[in-house]
Amino acid sequence: MLSLACASAVVAAAGPDPIVATRQSAMKEMAAAAKTIAGMFDGKLAYDAVAFKAAAGTLRTRTGPALIAEFPIGTLGPPSGARLEIDQARSEFEALARHIGMLASTLAAKAERAPPSITDDMRMGSGPAMGGGSLLGKRPAAAEADPAKAPAEHLLHLILQDCSSCHSRFRQKVL
Ligand code: HEC
Repeated sequence: MLSLACASAVVAAAGPDPIVATRQSAMKEMAAAAKTIAGMFDGKLAYDAVAFKAAAGTLRTRTGPALIAEFPIGTLGPPSGARLEIDQARSEFEALARHIGMLASTLAAKAERAPPSITDDMRMGSGPAMGGGSLLGKRPAAAEADPAKAPAEHLLHLILQDCSSCHSRFRQKVL
């Protein structure tokens, strides 16, 4: 018991948990990647197929099983921003991580074949079975049913929705 107590005191004195630090920097990388892609579609950044591919690859690598593995029991709760609820709702957390992983893989596969300049069919609002649908109506439904058919920009929006869903449920502000 005593040695256990000492060991945890040492960990506390050694500063932030490396698992927490690693996942926080992985999250920051995802945020930077998402911002890069969004910037290219918004026209704030020059479109660059190589950078698009790299950013989409980062999203793919950091989601799915990799994201799940970053939140082992014992690393949740303050001082980290990960809620303790993650452990009580593992299946929900993992489903979100896998869903965003599936979308990110689909986007990355599209980015692998990205043309040298941005094309209309990469943009929101293009794609099959979407004609006439409102933004909140048919389009998201069609993209959810078959993400591979959704334009890249739309996939990015779906990915960002998953970021927000997970954060509102499983992330907390810590001082
Ligand atoms: C399945 C859940 C989940 C998904 C999906 C998710 N996050 Fe997170 N994110 C978290 C949790 C939990 C934390 C708090 C981690 C901690 O502090 O230990 C976090 C923290 C962060 C942080 C703060 C990191 C820091 O420095 O403290 C950023 C930025 C972030 N996420 C961006 C994103 C972006 C961008 C996406 C989508 C591309 C995303 N996250 C998807 C759960 C998720």
